[in-house]
Amino acid sequence: MNAGNGTLTWPAADLSRVPYRVFFDPAVYEREQARVFRGPTWCYLALEAEIPDPGDYRTTCIGDTSVVVNRGLDGRIHAFANRCAHRGTTLVRHLSGNARSHTCIYHHWNYDLEGNLQGVPFQRGAKGKGGMPASFDKRAHGLFKVRVAAYRGVVFGTMHPATEPLEDYLDRPMRAYLDEIFCKPIEILGYMRQVIPANWKLYFENLHDPYHAGLLHQFQTTFGIFSNSQRGGSIMDKERRHRIGYSIHGSASEDETKAGYAGTTVYNEALTLEDPSIVAFIDEMGDGKAVNMMTVFPAVFFQRLTNTLATRRIRPKSPTAFELYWTFFGYTDDSPEVRRARLRQVNLVGPGGLVSMEDGEAGVQVQRAMAGGGNTHSVLEMGGTGPIEDQDTINTEVPIRGFWRHYCTLMGYRPESTG
Ligand code: FES
Ligand SMILES: [Fe+2]
Repeated sequence: MNAGNGTLTWPAADLSRVPYRVFFDPAVYEREQARVFRGPTWCYLALEAEIPDPGDYRTTCIGDTSVVVNRGLDGRIHAFANRCAHRGTTLVRHLSGNARSHTCIYHHWNYDLEGNLQGVPFQRGAKGKGGMPASFDKRAHGLFKVRVAAYRGVVFGTMHPATEPLEDYLDRPMRAYLDEIFCKPIEILGYMRQVIPANWKLYFENLHDPYHAGLLHQFQTTFGIFSNSQRGGSIMDKERRHRIGYSIHGSASEDETKAGYAGTTVYNEALTLEDPSIVAFIDEMGDGKAVNMMTVFPAVFFQRLTNTLATRRIRPKSPTAFELYWTFFGYTDDSPEVRRARLRQVNLVGPGGLVSMEDGEAGVQVQRAMAGGGNTHSVLEMGGTGPIEDQDTINTEVPIRGFWRHYCTLMGYRPESTG
């Protein structure tokens, strides 16, 4: 029952109980940085389309470590910790740009685009005095290099030497999702950023939780984007750490929706939109999926919500706060009609989105209440407490248990039955 920490207990082997403590304990947070983010995982860094030319760079992250990803003069992509090897200054302070090399502001050490130290001012001192000792070897003082791999133009990085190849890590269903969403050249449409005062895992739980989507988000239920009465499901990888969630547009009749939501205040048939174009779904993929989303453990979410396309990158900041970076894109060959739909529907998502705002707020409300929860647990039993398998229903929390199972494996926690 004890999970390696006197006060952190996982009383159910099926992961149907999650200790609230895991969301605010600073020791858990530190362990996560080491075992999850700097552990054998691939973290999303950027899209290749954001750094198309030699010298293009973006600052991104692996966990709470700032990382620079850039395209070298040879066209290859490199990444390294954004921390000067001299005395630890943030090396690159801009979100994006183009540079032939990177120079630290403090003492102007200069690094090439692969992170190698190439210049140390006054290395030999001045007037025969000072300078570095003769033993100082620039080759031993490069930036901490991040191993990089890309799939379909999506760039991931890992700090762990033993992380499995990216394609294996993603597994077949996730690669198929990326094959589809990145089936042709993309164009970046814009960015949003927000800080959410909640633990990052509350957001990851939310992304693995189809059950909330037609209940918390009244807008999309009332105006026909999504409801828990629809046909939908969850597809996971072999480890059950990633998840694709989808629903089929129009797969629930009005009567089914009314019956499903009877006794709740979620579905209000009396409300209509003066301009319904914000919820008008153009089925550009021909699969009827107005919602088709994917999480890749531990820090990214790919979104197809109606016609919006985006990535959401999670950056933990502390046990009780994380940042969310939204990158919106379309295809270079978008018709004007589809492009208009994408831009209009952006109003559904982002920090103030008619749908997405509530996900952040739900996390905040949980975070607020759990501090007084002592050594108690949340309950994950929707969909049953049996094996963690693909789901063909929206009314399930099984994929959340998949997330926790993998998390516990990495963290060295051993969920046990209280018997
Ligand atoms: S800390 Fe960067 S050059 Fe000194
Ligand atoms: Fe949500």
